[in-house]
Amino acid sequence: LAQQTTLLVHADRPGPQIAPEIYGQFVEHLGRGVYEGIWVGEDSPIPNTRGIRNDVVAALKQVKVPVIRWPGGCFADSYHWRNGVGPRDRRAQEINASWGGKPDTNAFGTHEFMDFLGQIGAQPFVSVNVGSGSVQEADDWMRYMTAPADSDPGRARAANGRASPWAVPYIGVGNESWGCGGNMTAETYAATFRHYAAFLRSYSGPAARLIAVGADTDDYAWTETMMARAMTWRPDPTPLAYIDRRPLMWGLSLHFYTFAGNDWQDKGRNVGFDRTGWAKALGRASLTDALIAKHSAIMDRYDPGKTVALAVDEWGAWFASEPGTSALYLDSTLRDAVIAGVSLNIFNRHADRVKMANVAQMVNVIQSLVLTRGADMVVTPTWHVFDLYKVHQGATMIPVDVAAPDYVEGKERMPQVNVSGSRDPQGVLHLSIVNLDPDRPAPVRALLAGVAGRTATAETLTAARIDTRVEFGKPDPFVPRRLQDVRLASDTLTMTLPARSVTLVTIR
Ligand code: AHR
Repeated sequence: LAQQTTLLVHADRPGPQIAPEIYGQFVEHLGRGVYEGIWVGEDSPIPNTRGIRNDVVAALKQVKVPVIRWPGGCFADSYHWRNGVGPRDRRAQEINASWGGKPDTNAFGTHEFMDFLGQIGAQPFVSVNVGSGSVQEADDWMRYMTAPADSDPGRARAANGRASPWAVPYIGVGNESWGCGGNMTAETYAATFRHYAAFLRSYSGPAARLIAVGADTDDYAWTETMMARAMTWRPDPTPLAYIDRRPLMWGLSLHFYTFAGNDWQDKGRNVGFDRTGWAKALGRASLTDALIAKHSAIMDRYDPGKTVALAVDEWGAWFASEPGTSALYLDSTLRDAVIAGVSLNIFNRHADRVKMANVAQMVNVIQSLVLTRGADMVVTPTWHVFDLYKVHQGATMIPVDVAAPDYVEGKERMPQVNVSGSRDPQGVLHLSIVNLDPDRPAPVRALLAGVAGRTATAETLTAARIDTRVEFGKPDPFVPRRLQDVRLASDTLTMTLPARSVTLVTIR
């Protein structure tokens, strides 16, 4: 028998703003993420605008992508930006050392990335090369992108087709410097970050916000060291020395991937999985909450005012790819939608500290929003969740207390229902509610405190099976549909969520 879930929606106790950048994306030169997924070239028969495919741009525009992180990932620490500017027929024909030694023509470089962003209306988050680059190379890139037109870097940019500077609000100072980005200890990276931070800036437009490499998953010692040693210009002066508490970092990153196997060598299949594969993946995705809470608690000790953002700049469901597919290509199933719904709810709930998140990766790689095959394109169930949840961007977080039965499968145990809420500037309240149980519907009773709304509607995404997937050339099985029997009487909302579903409730 389905047990009831009770929600206490505290619209009378509004929280912080949900940064739109929580709905950010990540794209890397990897597999078919950039080449084919975004860039097809001006001469391609695939409809494009200056080489960038129109279907992908249209799909991404619809979900209001706020920010895109590029060019990596591991690739960022072997990328030399000069290879990617100037006439395309003269660009360096490189090899992608990070991802299988495949050729990289450099046809997609700084100008093409900025053009792509302009076409979809997103901001850049550029990761500079720390691992195999230099402070000089990174600073030169910032000059090239942001220096005024009447400077030599500005003239070089204009000679390549862009006179006015670009706004570059977010700079990633390396990537995973504890691993592929340089194999550094936390102490070494903290010192390296301080060195880069002393030179990296925007030469026009908004001040650059530096994002330091943060922890992998539960490496709390890394967070501790970075906060202690690299948060401000002079963190540990002697008693007589000059104290300089100006922040060095705007944000500290966190990388966390979900899989369904036992470890990185055994991530579990992304298609044809069973109930254990469903439960293990959702159990791991649900851990995001505790991970963020623990990293935030460390940050709170150094930064009680929460001026430094936690930027979850790589997250997503990373299962084993099927044989014969391009690097890290994953088919997309209902499980991905549920993982996205749970993860984004958790980021919303931690909006006081989490100011940015970037799903890995936008097109054709890991947990994509869009998949392409030659001229064909499909949107994934993850895309639908981003589309439903876009109402949270920039809205005020509304706390919700949840009393839900547990969903149990083998050794996995987690609350059946996962929720976040927000109120938009027009006063409309939104609740995004995930039912993680693959079999049991969730009857929900929500008590609304401080809500003036009088009508409630809901849209829900589910599918026939836990591993229903999106397929090229077939109807999309994930289009959300109107949920029936959503009732609002006085301050009480009742409804029944389908099993294995993601639902957005709108109360106006
Ligand atoms: O997203 C794929 C890879 O995962 C990234 O390049 C790297 O930063 C992480 O390990």
